[in-house]
Amino acid sequence: MTDVQSTPDSPALENLLHETRTFPPTPAFAAQANVQAEAYERADADRLGFWADNARALLDWQTPFETVLDDSAAPRYGWFTDGRLNAAYNAVDRHVAAGNGDRVAILWEGEDGEQRRITYGELAADVARAANAISALGVGTGDRVAIYLPMIPEAVVALLACARIGAPHSVVFGGFSAEALHSRILDAEAKLVITADGGYRRGGASPLKPAVDDALAKGGTAVEHVLVVRRTGGDVAWTPQRDVWWHDVVPQASAEHEPVWVDAEHPLFILYTSGTTGKPKGIFHTTGGYLTQAAYTHHAVFDLKPETDVYWCTADIGWITGHSYVVYGPLVNGATQVIYEGTPDTPHKGRWWEIVQKYGVTILYTAPTAIRTCMKWGEDIPAGFDLSSLRLLGSVGEPINPEAWMWYRRVIGGDRAPIVDTWWQTETGAIMISPLPGVTATKPGSAQTPLPGVVAEVLDDAGHAVGNGQGGYLALTEPWPSMLRGIWGDEKRFAETYWSRFPGVYFAGDGAKKDEDGDIWLLGRVDDVMNVSGHRLSTTEIESALVSHPWVAEAAVVGAADETTGQAVVAFVILRGGDEAADRPDDDAEVVATLRGHVGQAIGPIAKPRSILVVSELPKTRSGKIMRRLLRDVAENRSVGDVTTLADSGVMSLIQQGLAKPA
Ligand code: PRX
Repeated sequence: MTDVQSTPDSPALENLLHETRTFPPTPAFAAQANVQAEAYERADADRLGFWADNARALLDWQTPFETVLDDSAAPRYGWFTDGRLNAAYNAVDRHVAAGNGDRVAILWEGEDGEQRRITYGELAADVARAANAISALGVGTGDRVAIYLPMIPEAVVALLACARIGAPHSVVFGGFSAEALHSRILDAEAKLVITADGGYRRGGASPLKPAVDDALAKGGTAVEHVLVVRRTGGDVAWTPQRDVWWHDVVPQASAEHEPVWVDAEHPLFILYTSGTTGKPKGIFHTTGGYLTQAAYTHHAVFDLKPETDVYWCTADIGWITGHSYVVYGPLVNGATQVIYEGTPDTPHKGRWWEIVQKYGVTILYTAPTAIRTCMKWGEDIPAGFDLSSLRLLGSVGEPINPEAWMWYRRVIGGDRAPIVDTWWQTETGAIMISPLPGVTATKPGSAQTPLPGVVAEVLDDAGHAVGNGQGGYLALTEPWPSMLRGIWGDEKRFAETYWSRFPGVYFAGDGAKKDEDGDIWLLGRVDDVMNVSGHRLSTTEIESALVSHPWVAEAAVVGAADETTGQAVVAFVILRGGDEAADRPDDDAEVVATLRGHVGQAIGPIAKPRSILVVSELPKTRSGKIMRRLLRDVAENRSVGDVTTLADSGVMSLIQQGLAKPA
């Protein structure tokens, strides 16, 4: 473990493990909690039986399953393989059939103040219409649909319409560039793209359709149609025959639609995420197991009472959290939920808390980076709103530092609401490690305990489970229902990435430590994946974007600790001489601004480096591997660590002298 993004032995993280404060649930919360301590015993005694019971209790099956786990083709495990069901039917129709059609499913608030309330009955009709409309556009069961939408109700409808006809969706985050969209459309061979003219962000209309046009203009795709929702009313370029307005085909379509019943192992969606190489991985999930665990964890961890709770997960639908805890988990459980389109500080920094007050939100699920941003803005802002409806708070996406945890508990949760720090990944599909709010005495900063039915271990280099007080790598040692079924089109990479570090065991890519009580602390990635504001970015992907610019000869990217975003992208570049550099300004600041813009173009604004340092050399081992550890020392203003394995030990002083040199 020499050259890693974050090591379990980092001194800052060491301090965290001395946390001794614990917060047991109040007796009143514990007494009413959906899931009690017996769940651990039940699952330990018969893990497969536990998941089978939940699959039956939480979902409606058109054909009941007999087989629980099929491990004959491991690591391509199958769950509930002989059962058949439909995800959209489970998320919407059956609530209507059960007499809950008038319950509000979505309380939507646009950034511009527009509001929509959508009941389960209305949602069922909308999804059926959209399913008929996309079928009429030639999308059949098994075809892939790319979705590039803002946080508007049509996004939920679009995902469910795909699920209804068994067409796997591939949602691409609206903040990604045309180039990123193009590569994802190509990789999934999508036939249809669903987008909008734009969405509202930071007080203005921000266009989306032009990125789709640019992506498709790059060519090579299998896209036949682009279905466009009108949200902002902005001008859009139009390609006749290919482009179709949502409002021209969806409202007119029939609200009668027979769901396509699919095998439990039918792919439900693909979602691209960064890995250790430059090419994003299309993580794919299937239907029965994914829905079972999304619904179970939503019920157990968020303690949802569908009749009385108002649930709000602030994640965008473009990330796995939006899939599992905005769309599938809450809707399968019949929740009433808030969906908000915009940014937390538009038009003022109290917007989120105003929404909590307005809708009486009882359960809030958000990311540490958002909490730290609110801390920075000051507690006077949330203090101006009535947050007394909140009864449970959740955190996801990155380790939450104890200060932020305590602030969240005191300022937002009124020292009353339990906090669930939930560890999971795009690959795991659903929450894996988290307190149970009615059972666990929570600890600021620790995700603590694998959920019932989940088996996680911290392993040392040799693959042995470490004891309490020790650190290593987080691994999942038994299959779980919502596990990824593969990397789209790349079985070899799937096996290599996740199943080869410790044979037969899922390697999560995170460092972790067990404290003296056996609680798990997540310590960040141990590979070349950064976590910026809870979003995964690959160092290699940003390096490739940088070297694709003619001015750049070589680039190295590291994730440096950042108070607000967790990590920030810091790049070191060596510039080219010669012809390619002919149009390069002399001023480094201009070069840096151009390169930042270039990365934004290539990947998306979230990937823009916080800083780019122009250097004359990069530190490399004798085998030519860049030693990012040393660059991270520089980026984090530390004294540079052990340089003995460098091919040229003078390089680091050159880099530092270069930085010290007046610009
Ligand atoms: O490093 C871990 C971190 O986020 C990674 C997964 O990122 P992604 O697939 O984008 O999914 C994010 C939302 C589930 C993990 O490998 N991570 C996620 N949740 C936590 C976390 N790190 C510490 N504590 C968490 N609660």
